[in-house]
Amino acid sequence: MTNRLPKGRGAQSDGADTNASHQPVRQVTPGATTLIVYFSRSGNTEAQARTAAQYLGADSYELVVAHPYPVDYRASVDRATRERENREWPALLTADLPDLSQYQLILLGHPIWAMTPANPMRQFLEQFGNQLAGKRLASFATNAGYGAGDTQQVLARLTPASTVVLPNYSIQDVHLERTVSAFKRWLDQTKGESSL
Ligand SMILES: Cc1cc2nc3c(=O)[nH]c(=O)nc-3n(C[C@H](O)[C@H](O)[C@H](O)COP(=O)(O)O)c2cc1C
Repeated sequence: MTNRLPKGRGAQSDGADTNASHQPVRQVTPGATTLIVYFSRSGNTEAQARTAAQYLGADSYELVVAHPYPVDYRASVDRATRERENREWPALLTADLPDLSQYQLILLGHPIWAMTPANPMRQFLEQFGNQLAGKRLASFATNAGYGAGDTQQVLARLTPASTVVLPNYSIQDVHLERTVSAFKRWLDQTKGESSL
C-alpha cells in the first residue's frame, strides 16, 4: 500500500492495485478457522481487511487481478463498466489460493463498484462460490457514499450452499478511521452463531 491516504471518491490506484510496494497479502496459519478474502484497488478495503485480520486473529488473502486497473479513477470506472456490461469479469491470479477446507468462517471484503461488489470479487464468487459450501460467510465493503447496493443479494445468489450470517457491513471511504469501533462491533457478531 502507498503512503498516500487513498480514501475518498476518485481515489487513485498506484497502478498495481495496492501492491506496488509490497507482495500481495497472503497470511495462512495452521489452525486458523477464519479467512478474510479481499480485493482493494486504492487501499480503503485493504485497511478494513487489516483491521479485521488483527482484531479476529484471522488469516488473509488478497485477490490480485491479472491486469491491474489503471491509476486514473475515470479510466478504471470506464474499464469496470465495460467488464460489467459485457459480463467479462477480470481474471484473478489465484494459483496460491489457500486450501479453503481449513476455514469455517470466510469474510469477504471489497469496494462497491456501480452499486454492486467490485468486479474482482464478483469473479471470485463466480469462480469459487461453490467451494464455500457449508461455510459461514459475511462481507464488508467500502463505498463513496452510496451504500452497498445489491451486495447481499449477489452474495446469497452466488453462494447458495453457504450460510450468510450477517448483513453486509458497508462504510463510506472518508469515514473509515472514525468508525473502527463500529466495525469491530460488527466483527464481534461474526463470531456468534446467529444467522439471518
Ligand atoms: C470503478 C469504480 C466504481 C465505483 N462505484 C461506486 C458506487 O457505485 N458507489 C459508491 O458509493 N462508490 C463507488 N466507488 C467508490 C469506491 O467504492 C470507494 O472509493 C472504495 O472505498 C474504494 O475502495 P478501495 O480503496 O479498497 O479500492 C467506485 C469506485 C470505482 C473505482
